[in-house]
Amino acid sequence: MRLWKLSYTSIAVAAHDAALRQAHEICARSGDRNARIDVSSVLTVHRGRFAQVLEGPEEAVRSVLRRIMGDPRHHSLTVLADGPLLARRYGNWAMAYRDPKAFITDQLDDILQQTADVVRAMKATWH
Ligand SMILES: Cc1cc2nc3c(=O)[nH]c(=O)nc-3n(C[C@H](O)[C@H](O)[C@H](O)COP(=O)(O)O)c2cc1C
Repeated sequence: MRLWKLSYTSIAVAAHDAALRQAHEICARSGDRNARIDVSSVLTVHRGRFAQVLEGPEEAVRSVLRRIMGDPRHHSLTVLADGPLLARRYGNWAMAYRDPKAFITDQLDDILQQTADVVRAMKATWH
């Protein structure tokens, strides 16, 4: 089955400290469920928003997203990335909290890597 990456951001209903507590609770409770369906994930909270990356078989990732979308602890979920993945970044984490700075650094690394891959592939077609 295809390996997939999906990331999103959403607006937390609770104020920052409570949302941070919720994120830690969610990480503690969801790890086993994610692991059972081979999904790895990180979650962060920043300025009243959740952001999460889900990796795993496409169908499994979509089924987790469907459940998350119905969760009353957040709203206005916006998908940021939704596409195939060559290798997992968070293979060791079924569900972990990640500091926002580390989270965004990881995502920037991925974007720069993808851009470099596309440029390399384009150059290869020029010869
Ligand atoms: C921001 C956010 C991220 C979540 N991430 C996950 C997740 O990765 N895996 C998961 O099983 N549940 C996650 N949940 C919790 C689910 O929405 C849901 O509460 C939980 O899976 C229990 O579902 P159930 O009540 O239908 O059993 C998340 C919830 C929120 C608000």
